[in-house]
Amino acid sequence: MTFVLWVCRSMHIFGVTVWLGGLMFQSAVALPVTQFEGAEAQMAMRKISRRFVDFIWMSVWTICITGVLMMLLSPRFVWFQYPDQWSVLLGVKQVIFVLMMLYAFGHARMLRLMETGSGEAGELFRHRANQFRKISIALGILAVLLGAAMNLS
Ligand code: HEM
Repeated sequence: MTFVLWVCRSMHIFGVTVWLGGLMFQSAVALPVTQFEGAEAQMAMRKISRRFVDFIWMSVWTICITGVLMMLLSPRFVWFQYPDQWSVLLGVKQVIFVLMMLYAFGHARMLRLMETGSGEAGELFRHRANQFRKISIALGILAVLLGAAMNLS
């Protein structure tokens, strides 16, 4: 049992690191560099973002499956009851996770639309994609803070 929990916790944290780390790298490192480097660099950035979408879904599944396993294996978990801080933190984190998944869908859709959109429409899709990425980062940081607090309760 301890081994299963160790594997779940490790993969849970790894999934979070890939998802949040990748979005932060794109927003804070790659994008500020490529957006002033001309059309070729911007095309490369679009390809990087599109490729990273697959990693987002891998992380989503990893976090979800390991989260559910840890939840079901925890003596503190009671279905649809929030008697203590641990279960309240878990509940809020699950809501954030669903929101992050919705923004991940929106982000992936905007990246696809950016391929065909030009002029004003292309600009709007690019703006929305960046916006959804930033919102996902903020939600992810909040979920990490809640996750870390679960162990303190
Ligand atoms: C983006 C969303 C999520 C983030 C950032 C996140 C983050 C974390 C972090 C940082 C921990 C603490 C690990 C530790 O202290 O070793 C944790 C633990 C945990 N997470 Fe998540 N998590 C997310 C989604 C979920 C979901 C969707 C579930 C359930 C379906 C879940 C269930 C759990 C459970 C049960 C624990 C173990 C708590 C304990 O130690 O008792 N997490 N999570």
